[in-house]
Amino acid sequence: MVFAPLKFNNNLIAQKPIIQGGMAIRVSRAPLAAAVANCGGVGVIAASGLSEPELKEQIKLARSLQTNKNGLIAVNIMFAASEFRRLIENSVDAGIDLIISGAGFSRDLFSIGKETGVQVVPIVSSVKLARISKKLGANVIIVESGEAGGHLGTDQPIRKLIPEIRQALDAEPDLPGVGKVTLVAAGGVTSGADIMEMMSLGASGVQMATRFVLSKECDVHDNFKNLFLNKEEKDVVMMQSPVGLPARAILTPLIERLQNGTIEKPKTCDSCLKHCSHSFCIIRALDAARKGDIENGLFFTGANVKKYTEILSVKEIFDKLEAEVNEYIKNNKIDCGKERCVF
Ligand SMILES: Cc1cc2nc3c(=O)[nH]c(=O)nc-3n(C[C@H](O)[C@H](O)[C@H](O)COP(=O)(O)O)c2cc1C
Repeated sequence: MVFAPLKFNNNLIAQKPIIQGGMAIRVSRAPLAAAVANCGGVGVIAASGLSEPELKEQIKLARSLQTNKNGLIAVNIMFAASEFRRLIENSVDAGIDLIISGAGFSRDLFSIGKETGVQVVPIVSSVKLARISKKLGANVIIVESGEAGGHLGTDQPIRKLIPEIRQALDAEPDLPGVGKVTLVAAGGVTSGADIMEMMSLGASGVQMATRFVLSKECDVHDNFKNLFLNKEEKDVVMMQSPVGLPARAILTPLIERLQNGTIEKPKTCDSCLKHCSHSFCIIRALDAARKGDIENGLFFTGANVKKYTEILSVKEIFDKLEAEVNEYIKNNKIDCGKERCVF
């Protein structure tokens, strides 16, 4: 078990095995993604909900802010978005390093990856989809658990999913030229000790999102960040998203209206999703959250938001994780062998 660079292919290696999870709508944008890449991690711009010119502009801006070439810039595109393919094509045109896709599963993702020559990374929440991804040629898979924020594909905890998926994939022959599949653990990872535990269970990296909302570089309204501070278990709830998936969010007036059936149905629709229940307009609710509108906003969060008590810069977040990883390595007398621990 080592804390080593995260390899996507021979040309794409992130110095630190930490991905900042994509957060639509306009929660994870260029300044956050670039700050993460500058710390050696994978910074992710959420593409869902952006127009094509805005997406290209965000990728260009992230590149202009990126000073450390040992980090990577990716986009996250929800499969559920109507513009899925067009957003991928625009990201490829703009020179993105990686395409990450979740909120639904797409076999097309792998053929698009082959056609365009860009590295694709699926997000899965089950053994079944991990197996299919491996068969379709995935060499890196993000495993997202029931503790994650936003739309969820499972209620299973990360400490159960990672070993299960590791075991299932290792039991099958590796594809020629692809080799052993790399797993990245997403959902509820909050500390350096959690990261090292994920490595011991069979992951080679982690994806963290809620932590990065509480960063100085995340450019959502301060109300959004303050809402995340000092939360208790009772402040975090599950809800049914119009996408057709369960999701986790902070209990706010919008959720109360959804629970008691008084939420307003949308009068107009931009058809932003392939399938939508129209129970309320999720894109407007997420946009209201970004702008700090507590009354009308939908604030997605991970289950462990209660563990965060401060807003830090991305550099401070990485420094803190580094100190915790080093402490774990020292306390547990871990031999990092030939592959050097990167911190
Ligand atoms: C505010 C917020 C928005 C999110 N939006 C997306 C999204 O657009 N696409 C996606 O694949 N995952 C999304 N997620 C999930 C994260 O990318 C990530 O996998 C997960 O939250 C990791 O768990 P953590 O928040 O406990 O660190 C979102 C999470 C949060 C907190």
